[in-house]
Amino acid sequence: MQINVAPFENSFAAEINGLDIQRGINKRQFEIIHEAFLDYKVLIFRDQPLDDKAHQTFGMLFGELDGHINKSTRHKVLPSVQIFSNVKANGETTGVHPEKGTQVWHTDKSYTATPSLTTILRSPEIARVGGDTLFADMTRAYDKLSDDMKKTIEGLFAVHDWARSREKSNERAATPEEIKAAPPVEHPVVRTHPETGKKSLYIGNHSSHITNMDLATGEAILASLEKHATQSALIYRHKWQIDDVLMWDNRCTMHCVEPYDAAKEKRSVHRVVVKGDRPF
Ligand code: OGA
Ligand code: MN
Repeated sequence: MQINVAPFENSFAAEINGLDIQRGINKRQFEIIHEAFLDYKVLIFRDQPLDDKAHQTFGMLFGELDGHINKSTRHKVLPSVQIFSNVKANGETTGVHPEKGTQVWHTDKSYTATPSLTTILRSPEIARVGGDTLFADMTRAYDKLSDDMKKTIEGLFAVHDWARSREKSNERAATPEEIKAAPPVEHPVVRTHPETGKKSLYIGNHSSHITNMDLATGEAILASLEKHATQSALIYRHKWQIDDVLMWDNRCTMHCVEPYDAAKEKRSVHRVVVKGDRPF
């Protein structure tokens, strides 16, 4: 099979064809994927009916897999695989989207000291209506800021806080045990990509406020940056097909799931998350 990288027109995502991830990825194929990952930030592999073990093996090519704070969504046998599903064992829907925090703009695990490098999702069940995943290109968003705004945010740090993030997305409150596992951390508002050297905005729902600035002013700056970054011209909208594998670079993108009817539509994604470096 010939590996082929097909970027989408007027967007920053690319489809990669000619791979069978279940069978395994060789060194040359990995190098092509890695280069495309840095060039396009979001990669789509269609028709990849993986099992969870192969999904995990694929993730491990990119680095150390991360754990998941919310125990209820962990895979029973492979704890580094996480399942977000609204389908019960008997096949009926639960009526609720499993993780409300995924429905607001965020970048994965930015509430930890070493947030996710990449998240790799696969889609055994997709919603017929709604449930697209949207991505924002945060390098482009930074580049398009006015010089004044670039100056205003230069050197600023934001506090990222999982418990606060859950409040903002109307999710159940964090438990004391979870708060202990994920205390607030600070990251630069403009981060430099460790592999490409490019600057990106690093914000999203997990970012709560700005260090050494009054709460309301910091919240307003973060909200205005998010509004700028998520304007429709900067978005890639992923329309799921069954057995897509989708991976993205959390260091220079944000994402969210569009609403869908969680009583009528069945939607399940399995995910593995690769740990990244401390942002700088
Ligand atoms: C995630 C996430 C998006 C989706 O897995 O990190 O935000 O489409 N999910 O379910
Ligand atoms: Mn996410």
